[in-house]
Amino acid sequence: MERVAVVDGAMTSFGEHWNLSLRELAVEAGRKAMKNAGIGPKDVDALFIGNMAGGYFNGQEHLASLISRELHLAPKPSTRVEAACASGGLAARMGHLSILAGAYDTVLCVGVEKMTDLPPENVTSGLAMAADGDWEAYFGVTFPALYAMLARRHMHEFGTTEEQMAAVAVKNHDNGVLNPNAQFRFPLSIEKVLKSALVSDPIRLLNCSPISDGAAAVVISKESIAKKLTDTPVYFQGSGQGSDSIALHNRVTLTTLEATVAAGKMAFKNAKLTPKDIDLVEVHDCFTIAELLAIEDLGFIEKGKAGPATEEGVTARDGRIPVNASGGLKSKGHPVGATGIAQIYEVMLQLRGEAGGRQVDGATRAMIHNVGGSGGTAIVNIMGRD
Ligand code: COA
Repeated sequence: MERVAVVDGAMTSFGEHWNLSLRELAVEAGRKAMKNAGIGPKDVDALFIGNMAGGYFNGQEHLASLISRELHLAPKPSTRVEAACASGGLAARMGHLSILAGAYDTVLCVGVEKMTDLPPENVTSGLAMAADGDWEAYFGVTFPALYAMLARRHMHEFGTTEEQMAAVAVKNHDNGVLNPNAQFRFPLSIEKVLKSALVSDPIRLLNCSPISDGAAAVVISKESIAKKLTDTPVYFQGSGQGSDSIALHNRVTLTTLEATVAAGKMAFKNAKLTPKDIDLVEVHDCFTIAELLAIEDLGFIEKGKAGPATEEGVTARDGRIPVNASGGLKSKGHPVGATGIAQIYEVMLQLRGEAGGRQVDGATRAMIHNVGGSGGTAIVNIMGRD
């Protein structure tokens, strides 16, 4: 069986795109990815598109067909994939697995979301559709509130502090300043985070990823084709996926996302690697507590110690295990369906040594972690140059 590699990719900047529609964002990223890979629509066998809520945010469903026509891919197969904020990661995984299965040689994976057309309170209600409708959203719970509960429990069990969560935001903004595609390119201080408006205690405005528009796309191919198209293929070395109850009250624990643990174990087993083999990690920091949970659940930091480790600089760009060198969702932005593909694009740049000022020196192997909702779905990939 041939391996699968990312040939090339592209992304729009993340932020508020008043002048671009959902369709135009997806088309811009998709066209650029094909151009960067040196291919045209005739060379692509199928399209996978990750999008969480085009129907609710933009009044547009049936996105796979729409975008495949716009990218001149129709009548080839096109599939839209939805797994809340992990829609992009899952679209890429479906593309990857379809090549492994021998169905296609080359696929285009696009992630897109346009969130800023609605007032923030409506966006919050739309996002809450990724919570349990009967037992969480119906009673008014929002995503900041769900993650606030996870944060409170972590603080209770391990002594994690608000300062330590703020340190995640400060680190990620330091990195995002160096990312030309990031939504928020300004530095933060611990004091500024701690003084920002309370959204859902203990989560403050500056603990949150923002509401964003954006798209990202990658061309992935089987190894023999990838090698013909580029001198710098970036291989999927291991891939995993996990699921859990959406509702927090059905979970065994609130200080571990079991879906992340399952996906991480699957990816490490698949790649025959351990956390020690990974040079950098892009995790799903939709709220600062989410980054702390992720680096513990993936095995990079002992359970309960991610707060102090972040304060000590272990996860800084020049630390033992750099986390979110891109700026993460916190600074780069989080157009939910696009995030998982943008993470793959970022890691591709890092592993090719093309990440500019935020480059992690000598990185040859990376892990990507993309979460749906409060942990109902997790996708983990290990990517490498060899
Ligand atoms: N980080 C840093 N700055 C932010 C920010 C964020 N996450 N969100 C907004 N801002 C800034 C804005 O740029 C604006 O700055 P300005 O006054 O200088 O222009 C200011 O804060 C107020 O912005 P506004 O758009 O009015 O914020 P809001 O109150 O409508 O929304 C949140 C703020 C945190 C509620 C919103 O970003 C949010 O819901 N985030 C979470 C998204 C989410 O749940 N995603 C899914 C995760 S599973």
